[in-house]
Amino acid sequence: MSGYPATGGAARPSPGVHPGAERVNDPLRTAFAAVHGGRPEGIWAAPGRVNLIGEHTDYNDGFALPVALAQTTRLAARRRTDGRLRLHSAQAGGPVVDLAVADLAPGAVTTWAAYPAGVVWALGEAGHREVDDGADLHFDSTVPAGAGLSSSAALECAVARAYDDLYGLGLGPPALARIAQRAENAFAGVPCGVMDQMASSCCVAGAALHLDVRAGSHEHVPFGPGAAGLRLLIIDTRVTHDLGDGAYAALRTGCERACALLGLAALRDLSPDHLPRAERMLPARLRPLVRHVVTENARVAEAVAHLKAGRVAELGPILNSAHASLRDDYRISCAETDLAVDSAVAAGALGARITGGGFGGSVIALVAADRVEPMGAAVTAAFRGAGYREPHLIPVTAAPGARRIE
Ligand code: GLA
Repeated sequence: MSGYPATGGAARPSPGVHPGAERVNDPLRTAFAAVHGGRPEGIWAAPGRVNLIGEHTDYNDGFALPVALAQTTRLAARRRTDGRLRLHSAQAGGPVVDLAVADLAPGAVTTWAAYPAGVVWALGEAGHREVDDGADLHFDSTVPAGAGLSSSAALECAVARAYDDLYGLGLGPPALARIAQRAENAFAGVPCGVMDQMASSCCVAGAALHLDVRAGSHEHVPFGPGAAGLRLLIIDTRVTHDLGDGAYAALRTGCERACALLGLAALRDLSPDHLPRAERMLPARLRPLVRHVVTENARVAEAVAHLKAGRVAELGPILNSAHASLRDDYRISCAETDLAVDSAVAAGALGARITGGGFGGSVIALVAADRVEPMGAAVTAAFRGAGYREPHLIPVTAAPGARRIE
């Protein structure tokens, strides 16, 4: 029990609250009561994501095609009135992280709490001073951390969505995704693009999210491999990836340098036709980076056309080309992710590739429904043979983005 008064919410309007829908026995409510005392005003959920195609294109103003996962971060939240932001996570455990909203500043929080606190800071920075009143937040997540499945975006987008609802900010999913990205970039110091937050915020069930980052627009493209007798599987290699370690930032810097040399605003502006000429203008170390981004944007367009025409199986060869490009040109693969891809394809997957930021994390494989088990067994056996940790296999269902669930 926190000893803090149950502040704030009860007397104020809570847009979208349906008291009748509350499930009083929900374990999240019980955990909230144990940590913060009393009852939350509501419960929100935001998903992790897996990217089908369009990797390392978002910060080049390009295109991507992520899918939201059924795995979510759930958040029980209640407003306060004393300016304290009190954060607790079932996964992190430990005592409540108790912060003064007025003291929130980039770099001030260095643990997991930087993601939710960063969203509160970013909302305040954007002029939504209602957030200064503080809140009690308790999180519980089924999104694997460090697996390249955007557990941090799920945390951020759950908070953004909860605040949007609780304070009636009326921002809506794309604006909330930009707030979440701002939190991650400026507050937590991770120089990511906007793909993860857009996926966690804007996806709808049964569809992938076709993002055009420069236009700031998105389109929902039906994604139902099941109807074609196929499955999309995540192979979590359990090699932890960390975008904060400098390698991701170095890739971004390389792309920016190439743009400067080519006189382009972003690599998005380079078409495949002009690639050979551009490569001749660049130093050898930048050529493969540019080649990956240009061909990857083209692969997104190709994949979207196939999905719209119901040709899901055609994604297979596109995944394989993307993996070769990420392994050989962008160089973000590693021995474990290469083995996952190779053993999945050898066991009958139509295609497979590393997904997410890279340097470990997860692989996706598109596979016929009746090949799922033999493929999983083959990948697991290959990992065992190589002396790696056993990978986790996670079936993908295209799930909805951040939402209020109670
Ligand atoms: C991470 C970043 C995204 C994106 C991917 C690579 O997930 O958070 O913005 O750049 O890597 O596609």
